[in-house]
Amino acid sequence: MAKKHTIQGVKGMEDILPADAAYYQFIEAAARAVFALYGYSEIRTPILEPTELFSRSVGDSSDIVVSKQMYTFTDPGERSNTMRPEGTAGVVRAVVEHGLLKENPTRKLWYSGQMFRYEKPQKGRLRQFNQLGLEAFGYTHPAADAEIIAMVCRVLARIGFANIVVKLNNLGDKQDRATYNEALRAALAESMTAAPWCDQCKTRALLNPMRVFDCKEPRCQELATTLPRIEQFINPEAKAHFATVTSLLDICNIAWTLDENLVRGLDYYCRTVFEFTQEGTGAQSAVGGGGRYDGLVEELGGPTSPGVGVGLGVERLIIAMKAQGIMPAETAQPELFIAALDEVAIPAVFALTEKARAAQIPVAFDLQPKSLKATLKSANRINAKTCVFVGPTEVEQQRVIWKNLTTGEQESLTFSQTEERLLNFR
Ligand code: HAM
Repeated sequence: MAKKHTIQGVKGMEDILPADAAYYQFIEAAARAVFALYGYSEIRTPILEPTELFSRSVGDSSDIVVSKQMYTFTDPGERSNTMRPEGTAGVVRAVVEHGLLKENPTRKLWYSGQMFRYEKPQKGRLRQFNQLGLEAFGYTHPAADAEIIAMVCRVLARIGFANIVVKLNNLGDKQDRATYNEALRAALAESMTAAPWCDQCKTRALLNPMRVFDCKEPRCQELATTLPRIEQFINPEAKAHFATVTSLLDICNIAWTLDENLVRGLDYYCRTVFEFTQEGTGAQSAVGGGGRYDGLVEELGGPTSPGVGVGLGVERLIIAMKAQGIMPAETAQPELFIAALDEVAIPAVFALTEKARAAQIPVAFDLQPKSLKATLKSANRINAKTCVFVGPTEVEQQRVIWKNLTTGEQESLTFSQTEERLLNFR
């Protein structure tokens, strides 16, 4: 028969193999422990959402919409669905749909899951990636922004990162941004008649002019220095809000820098926006980002309720961990290896292993008879301390061989002696 061709996974969507799964578990455990310290509850929302949810939340001028990054399809019932490109919109939808803010006007929620963006895959930029996210609803006070930032710093520190720097910017309120965008568009239109802006910035100037500050082209960065800055357009209340956020961070010794070019790629933000970067992640240095989004809950049909949140990119955290030599704690392998040396020994060995597991004792069992040599090789591969094996003679005598792999000593034990030893094996 002709050999069948192999199937490759979808481009930009990675398999998480056991060696990397340990990193995911480590990061998730660090995050969960911190989230619990702050009284956040978990929420799980579906991957698939009605497409309208994202067109109404992430916004027409967001990268996700402008760059056509959404995985959208019509289901057999002729409904347009989209695989979530980010987590905030789904959480807001769920909170509104289930009236969570009616029960309690403040909510602190966290989530973890896969997000999907049809982007050009590269290191740290995938089409399926994992985010750990936080969303706090009902808090107008700048302490909520500061708390989210402090939590992320705590998660990053717990993972083992040092020198955590938070980049902050103040985007003002909706009206401030509308006035500013008008001024910016006019300045850009004038500048573009004479100066060599890149093609992407020419499109940005029409759709989302603030994104020109994010351009990586040196000549655009240079030209951007001549444009009006948002700072002059921000209302006094939003300025005071930002000042309180930074002073709360200062009180807790959280290092931050003001980055006036930080505009974020989603339209729902207002006032405080932030990003966390880590060395070693290459061009995609943001391991997390977020900000305040007052008005989004209302926009999605909910009550007037402010919101602030953040998303952490797990794959980027792993890249940074590897670059900085931070290892996840090893997942412990069973220290006890039990083996059948012959088919007749399988029932006795199977029963012994199940008894051990019922008593919470981790046991490795190869599920098929093997020679003594192969058994010892497998036991050594997982660094087992003890190997228990049963061959045809042992089955006849209702005994096992208990071998200490450190000292090489071995004993013959009855089944009941073995059970007793197993249950006390630590
Ligand atoms: P975002 O900045 O689009 O924000 O994504 C958050 C993080 O997800 C990024 O900083 C990055 O680490 C990771 N990320 C984004 N795109 C990719 C990709 N294609 N491949 C790998 N990692 C990626 C949001 O998604 C907002 N929902 C965050 C938020 C929550 N704002 C308020 N609440």
